[in-house]
Formats: sequence, C-alpha cells, structure tokens
Amino acid sequence: MKRSLFKLVLIVLAVGFTVTALAQNTRVKILATGGTIAGAGAAAERAAYTAGKLPIDELLNAVPQIHKLAKITGEQVASIGSQDMSIEVWLKLAKRINEIFAKNEADAIVITHGTDTQEETAYFLDLVVKYNKPVVLVGAMRPATAISADGPKNLLDAVVVAADPKSQGRGVMLAMNERVFDARSVTKTNSTSLETFLSTNFGPVGLIYDQKVQYYYNPVRKPGKDTPYDVSGLTSLPRVDIAYMYADADPTAIEAFVKAGAKGIVFTGVGNGNMNKKNYDAIKAATSKGVVVVRATRTPGGRVTLHDEVDDDALGTVVSDDLNAQKARILLMLALTKTSDKAKVQDMFFQY
Ligand code: SIN
Repeated sequence: MKRSLFKLVLIVLAVGFTVTALAQNTRVKILATGGTIAGAGAAAERAAYTAGKLPIDELLNAVPQIHKLAKITGEQVASIGSQDMSIEVWLKLAKRINEIFAKNEADAIVITHGTDTQEETAYFLDLVVKYNKPVVLVGAMRPATAISADGPKNLLDAVVVAADPKSQGRGVMLAMNERVFDARSVTKTNSTSLETFLSTNFGPVGLIYDQKVQYYYNPVRKPGKDTPYDVSGLTSLPRVDIAYMYADADPTAIEAFVKAGAKGIVFTGVGNGNMNKKNYDAIKAATSKGVVVVRATRTPGGRVTLHDEVDDDALGTVVSDDLNAQKARILLMLALTKTSDKAKVQDMFFQY
C-alpha cells in the first residue's frame, strides 16, 4: 500500500515536472509596437506621459519572471502611440508574424500595443495570420513610470497565455487585467480605467490568475490557417471610411468619402443600424455608384440585422452583424481585396 502511494507521488511529480519543462521550452517572441505599456512620464504620481518611449529590452527587463515561463526573444516593430497605428504597420506586423511561424522562429507571439486601437490590430491579425499558433496582444492603461503600473503584470499574464498549450487554435487574443478576450468581440470601453476591455455581447473567453489561464468559451468565428485573406503581396488596402449617425445628422461625411474615392463606407447608425432620410439618400447614391456600404450600430452591444428597420435590398447595403464600426471597416477592407459583390461581402460578415 505504502509502495503504491510512493509510486503515485513519483508519477504526479514527474508529470508536473514535464508540463513545466515543456512550457519553459516554449519559444515566445515579443513584438513591440509602443503604447502606454512602453510609456514614460515625468512624475510617477501624474497621469501625463508619452506613449511608446521605452524600447523592448527595457520592457522585458522590467519583468524578469517571464524568462521562467518560456524562452523569450524580443523585436521592435514600431514605437508609436496606437492613435498612429496604420495599415502600413498592420501589413508589416502580419507579414512578420506569418514569416516567424513559417520559419519556425517561435511557437507563440505576444504583441505589446497601445490600448486605443488594440482591438483593431487584434481583429486585423485574426483575419490574416495563417497559423493556429497563439498570438496574444497586450497593453497597459498606466505608463511604465506610474505608481502601480499595470504593464508588467499584463505582460507576464500575456506570456502565460501565449506559452500555454491550451491557447493553440483559439484565434488572436487580447490579455489584459487578468482576462483573455477573443480579437473579434473585444472592445475598449473606458478611456482611463484599468478595467477597460470588455466583450459586450459575450464576455471574456478565459481568466488568468496566479500564472495560469483557464478557458471557458471557444469562439467559432476565427479563420486561422483557413483564412481567405492573403495580404502577403499587398502594400495598401482599399479605402474604407466610417460615417456616424446622430440626431439631425447631415450627410456631408458620406458625400465627401465617396468624392475622396472610398471603395467602402461603414455607416455607424442608431439602434439597429438606422439613419435619417438625408443619410438614407446619401447612402443610396453611394451604393448606386458601386460603393459598398455596411450598416453598423453606435450602440455598444447587440447586432445589426438584415431587412428589419431598413430594407437592405432597396438601399443596397450590407449589415455588420455584431461587429462594431471600427472592426467592420477592417473586414470590409479585406473583403474588398477579393470582391465588391454585395452578397459575397454579406456572407463574409456572417462568417468572420
Ligand atoms: C495608446 O493607445 O498608444 C495610448 C493609450 C494606451 O496605450 O492605453
């Protein structure tokens, strides 16, 4: 009896040791783009700071514990506040990530990024990264020089998520404030609070605590290796702009975007993607000229549904389903690299 108990203890210890050793052998590449997580201010007690100041090496040095979790390497891709994130940097990131996985340079990737446009970068990469390996975005709401900066803990947690074998095949994710979100549904909801990222319709897919991640949901809309979108040969994307509806809104924005050569417009309507007569007429004129117009909503949750408040066949529009306007723009830009057929674009909005 005693002998079998001893054997059991040995087996448990061996399994535990093997799992830890496997995780420690995971190669995690950290791609830095800037943001508040790399931000520096003049005084620890003041909110003012400049985003994207600290280089990747200083970020990594601030969290020596990550080296116990995985084999870490770092690369600086950009040093910007994410208000300056651009299609150029997105394409650079996408190409580099696909190259890293193609050349087997890493098993997982963490991207440090400003929180303001983090959800857009996450969703763009979710649509164009051709591998099912973990890609995790992370940021911070307080600069690295602040009292109680949240960046080091968020970075540690992001590496925990990236290095965990359970994170394979879940699409691009965002890890912040001890929560893991899928790229498609996460959105920044608060301009200053640490608890800013939410998935308003569905909640987080996982929770992180004590250097472990636990998953609860697996979103079905994540193209991964089967993605139809290939940006490897592209240096730009079709122009898509966003217009916004409010009481008595004037249609000047839509008319100006069409004049400027927009191939697509996301119209951020009220409620179920609705609009007043002036904007209806401007959208009708745009779709008649072949511009693809997607109806989204300015409400923070819910969906925009076909043919309910608006007759999409008559107006020539597509609905965003549950994508917010900034993410609908990304899917529409990528859709337009393949087709401007309204029905095919609509299918993509229901599939991805
Ligand atoms: C930025 O998005 O780069 C600035 C704000 C932040 O990172 O929280």
